[in-house]
Amino acid sequence: MIREVLKMGDPRLLAKAEKVLRFATPELAALLVDMRDTMAHLNGAGLAAPQIGVSLRVVIFGVHGNPRYPQVEEVPDTVLVNPILTPLSEELEEGWEGCLSVPGLRGSVPRFRRIRYAGFDEQGRSIERTAEGFHARVVQHECDHLDGILYPMRIRDFSRFGYIETLFADCEAPPED
Ligand code: NI
Repeated sequence: MIREVLKMGDPRLLAKAEKVLRFATPELAALLVDMRDTMAHLNGAGLAAPQIGVSLRVVIFGVHGNPRYPQVEEVPDTVLVNPILTPLSEELEEGWEGCLSVPGLRGSVPRFRRIRYAGFDEQGRSIERTAEGFHARVVQHECDHLDGILYPMRIRDFSRFGYIETLFADCEAPPED
């Protein structure tokens, strides 16, 4: 079922989400159906459970030749529960981000360029990967939602924060997580 996405200003987006304690449950499966439906409906690159008002450490993401973002690197479709992120170097990279909870805006956000991420899928199977570039950015953005952090809180250069149609009047806008 497509759920309403909470918007910035809603205090539920600022809460630290709880760990999932039981895997392979009907409740977790139902949550993921709703998250996938909602993300697909809004053409998002990712979605975190707190964005639909569920305070659990669950994120989904994935980008595949989205016709809206032909220039964007592919990211594997992933369900990540109880994620742990580890930067693989101190190197930061600025890049454009959007968020379904901050509609209509884009901002340039510094993120670690290379990370390792670990966690579980909905069945409790272990996931461990390294990622860089846009893939690493999407994971960092989604996992921030689990700690109540929205991307505008990480912007350093506010001259690169604004409305999509103004910032990208002459080019393709980057995707929205
Ligand atoms: Ni977001």
